[in-house]
This record gives sequence, structure tokens and C-alpha cells, in this order.
Amino acid sequence: MKHFLEISQLSPYDIDSLLRRALHFKQAPSYPSYLNTTMVNLFYENSTRTRVSFELAAHKLSMTVINLHSTQSSITKGETLKDTLDNLAAMGIKLVVIRHCKELLQQNFVKKLTNIQIINAGDGEHAHPSQAMLDLMTIYEKKPNLAMLKVVIIGNVRHSRVANSLQALFKTLAIKELIFVTPDIWQPRQLQFGKVIDSLQEGISAADVIICLRIQQERLLDCERLSLAKYKQEFGLTKKMLKYAKDDAIILHPGPVNRDVEIAGEVINSKQSCILQQVSNGVFMRMAIIDSLLSVHKKL
Ligand code: CP
Repeated sequence: MKHFLEISQLSPYDIDSLLRRALHFKQAPSYPSYLNTTMVNLFYENSTRTRVSFELAAHKLSMTVINLHSTQSSITKGETLKDTLDNLAAMGIKLVVIRHCKELLQQNFVKKLTNIQIINAGDGEHAHPSQAMLDLMTIYEKKPNLAMLKVVIIGNVRHSRVANSLQALFKTLAIKELIFVTPDIWQPRQLQFGKVIDSLQEGISAADVIICLRIQQERLLDCERLSLAKYKQEFGLTKKMLKYAKDDAIILHPGPVNRDVEIAGEVINSKQSCILQQVSNGVFMRMAIIDSLLSVHKKL
């Protein structure tokens, strides 16, 4: 694997291998060292969790990290992403973590790049594969029998790169049941795995894992806007609604959370919530992704 772009490029073996590597790093007293390797965090969109955890992951692997936000780079002068990456490669940069508001980071784009490896940290509505992998790690720690799980994903599925990557992941792993609960207007345009319904009660009934999505107001067309009060009433995850899930169901949210809209504060703070565990695991999963890319590339 030269680049880490989307879950569909991973086999079940690749997924298992990343998971084992991340779990190992979480326990390990020391880590591999990439002392002479520099990674650039190139973020064209805001981020808290993803940017900081990629930086922490690289530091733990003894790498140098340069953070380049689009507002501070020559991107503002009209340089293309391809030219930016070619220039970074010319300075000896080996690895670039990119977040972009458009669906740019697909195989056809990276095929044109030489001497540089790319990690997709979220591109438009397309993919957020490292988020899906850290979600899997968090689920696995609580519920290792992945094949037997009923997972429900609630919210704005149509615009969610996280939902896309999770769908691809659960399809590859062939989990028992995947349900998307979403208002009609936010249903996915295409579905490759799972089913879509609009009843929260039916969706979370006997669920093992409940994943709430952010509403993503910034991606909505005017005709896709819903009243937040109505959304909260019909699709907001509350303690009362949680009673329909299994008693030991776990709750995930990729963040950032709209507290008391898509998920009630009391659910975020409950024992079933694994939201901060996701964030902690993100550092180790991103270490596993970086190590996996660089260690394979070294042998080439
Ligand atoms: N989950 C996620 O991508 O969060 P950030 O936007 O803060 O990176």
C-alpha cells in the first residue's frame, strides 16, 4: 500500500493487520523510529481531532512534522494541489496527510504523483478512512466478535464521509447487520451494504453499536435543511431512546459533537459512551497507518 485513500482499497487481511498494529502500539513501551522522515499535515478544512492525532502519531514515531494550513500556503495564490505536492516532494517530504473540502483524493489523482505518499484525512463527502479504522478499533476493544454485531448509524448519511467509510468497512468485514437511520432527505444516494430506515426506535432495537453522525450544516443545500428541533425530537439519541438498544450497547460519535442536538449530553457523559476512547485510539490507529505505509515503502 503506497497511499491510504479509502477503505475499499483494503482487504480483510489489511484491516486486521492495521487493527493489530494499533492495538500493539497502545500497549507497547517503545515504537519504531522514522527519525529522518518528515510528514506534512496539509489541511484545507478545519480539524481538531484528526490534525492533532496525526501530529502526535508522527511525533511518537520520531518523525518531524510540518503543519501547513491552506490559508498560510501558496494555495491562496492559485497553486494546484498537484503542484503543491510536487514541490513538497522536491524538498524531500515523504508523507503528506491531506484534508480537503472536495472529493479529490481518489486513485486517479494520486496515480499522477511520484516520490510522495498520501494519507486521506477526509475529502469532501467521499471518505474518512482513518476515522473508520479508529472507530473499528474502539468497537473491537468492547465487542471483539465483530461478525455478530448489529450496528446502527444515525443522522445525515448523505453528506457523511465517515458513513461512507464505515459502510465500506462493515461490508468488507461482513458484519451481521448494518442499519442507517436517517430522515428521507438525508438518505444515501447509493447503498452497497446495510439498509436504510427512518425510525430511530426500530433502528436501535437490539443494537450492539450506535454511531451518531454530526448534522454537517455546512454541506446542506437549502432544500435539504431541517428544523433542528424536529431533528432532535425524531432522531436525537436520548437516554430514553437508548433503552431499546441492548443494555451493553456502546455509543460512538466521530466528533465534533452538536451536544443536545444529534446526541443528548447525558448520553455523551454516560458509561456507554466511547466517544473519548475513539479520540484516544485515533493516535494509535494513525501510528499504525503511518508505520504500515512507511515500512512497506522502505522495502521497495
Ligand atoms: N472526526 C473528525 O474528523 O474530527 P475533526 O474534524 O476535528 O478532525
